[in-house]
Amino acid sequence: MREEFLGGILVVDLGGQYTHLISRRFRELGAYASVIPYKSLEKSILSRFDALVLSGSPLSVSELDEAELSKFSELVFGSGKPVLGICFGHQLLARLLGGSVERRMEFGRTGVRILKRDPIFNGWGDFEFVWMSHNECITSLSGLGEVLALSENGCVAAFKVLHEGNVIYGVQFHPEVKHTVKGSRLLENFLSIAGVARNWSLSDYVDRIIKEMINEVDTSAKALVAVSGGIDSTVSALIAKKVFKDRLVAVFVNHGLLREGEVEEVLSNLRSLGIEPLYVNAEERFLKLLEGVSDCEERRKLIGEEFVKIFKEIIERDPEIKYFVQGTTYPDVIESGVVSGSSKIKTHHNVGGMPPWFKMRILEPLRYLYKDEVREVGRLLGLPEALLRRHPFPGPGLAVRVIGAFTREKLEIVRKASKIVEDTLREYGLYDSVWQAFAVVGDDMWVGVKGDERDQGYILTIRVVESSDGMTADWVRIPHEVLDVMSRRITSSLSRVTAVTYAITSKPPSTIEPC
Ligand code: XMP
Repeated sequence: MREEFLGGILVVDLGGQYTHLISRRFRELGAYASVIPYKSLEKSILSRFDALVLSGSPLSVSELDEAELSKFSELVFGSGKPVLGICFGHQLLARLLGGSVERRMEFGRTGVRILKRDPIFNGWGDFEFVWMSHNECITSLSGLGEVLALSENGCVAAFKVLHEGNVIYGVQFHPEVKHTVKGSRLLENFLSIAGVARNWSLSDYVDRIIKEMINEVDTSAKALVAVSGGIDSTVSALIAKKVFKDRLVAVFVNHGLLREGEVEEVLSNLRSLGIEPLYVNAEERFLKLLEGVSDCEERRKLIGEEFVKIFKEIIERDPEIKYFVQGTTYPDVIESGVVSGSSKIKTHHNVGGMPPWFKMRILEPLRYLYKDEVREVGRLLGLPEALLRRHPFPGPGLAVRVIGAFTREKLEIVRKASKIVEDTLREYGLYDSVWQAFAVVGDDMWVGVKGDERDQGYILTIRVVESSDGMTADWVRIPHEVLDVMSRRITSSLSRVTAVTYAITSKPPSTIEPC
């Protein structure tokens, strides 16, 4: 399916950290929203959408040269669509209109006063608190625009312009973040003003994607889907099953880096959903490859390549397989595009495509969905609640939780300790309220005394984080009593561990996984 045929809102990504949040908020309000990196934007794409949103950006509007400004001007004023500029988008619009920009920062909760009642502020009082995050401020507009609100620091917080029958709004604050208490209401008002239909429904989307796949693929051919037991691959497999029926080959590869008891759990979950996977025990193959490798990125690469080799072997044995189904989700699709200023922090091996020699047609039924939407689709397709509540688990598994040289000993320690961490959280009713919980081990040692023996053992780190999308995260304030139980259970069942620590750093500056 071509995304622009879904219509709705087009969010132009100018590099702001909340761009995806804008799109998600619109979808929560029932309007379909797409994100497109600014560099990939063409005029022909614009015509398919009902309205345009310009995101925030780390760039400064005062540094934009005439050529860049004229490109933006053509985009905004030539689009013939209603426009909402947010933060940098707001400043950009103001600059295009000839407004004055000054260096003045506003961060966090800020009061704004509404000067002029306008439908964009329906449901807002005359004074409200919003969330700001900017270094530059619009101090005045040219005669073309009308100031609707001012911040308590004198910055233009909102304005409106009518351009050839189209309404253009700018807001300096972030209506998409929850800290802007009435932010959702403002986005809802924008949808009404712009006449954007609120008919985005996940069940319609799933029906539509299944019908389109049936029309587009050769259903007499077979499709291979790699299942890991996680939500994305399970939901992809369930959708593909409706298209290919018994011509779907689901493959579950055990790379030896799974959690304790996971193989049995995944097999039984898939069977309960009517999927009988081909189980490939490739433990030895992967572990031999990883032994001694210290660099996590190198491990990710080796694991990714080995997976593809295994799929290739299966496909070579069965020439009827012509399709490869992947559980790629929307942020992966956007992040693999070219967004100026974005930097690659870790290579998530399911992102970035397949090597050129892998000659399968790739099907990605989830490519336009966010994680929470995939979960919702899973619910619609009858996934058991326990599977829906399962913590995310990285494709390269426990390999990214061993720091330093990879050894089987460290892998076993991480596997057993992670089980203790997860089980203890379940026992105390905390498992469902956290995003991920696991153990990490590196090369650092601590002298221990066990009985009369003095010996060096590993230092093990427990990491428990809360997050809504994995992009940012905070460490969970676990009660000391629970940490104490975890620590004692770990040291008494794992003789090679002599010290347990707790990771108390949020993301950023840390990442969730240690490497
Ligand atoms: P980081 O460590 O980047 O993790 O803060 C963010 C989220 O991504 C998961 N993660 C991965 N998932 N392959 C995956 O499929 C990977 O290589 C990978 N590395 C990290 C991580 O568990 C967290 O949910």
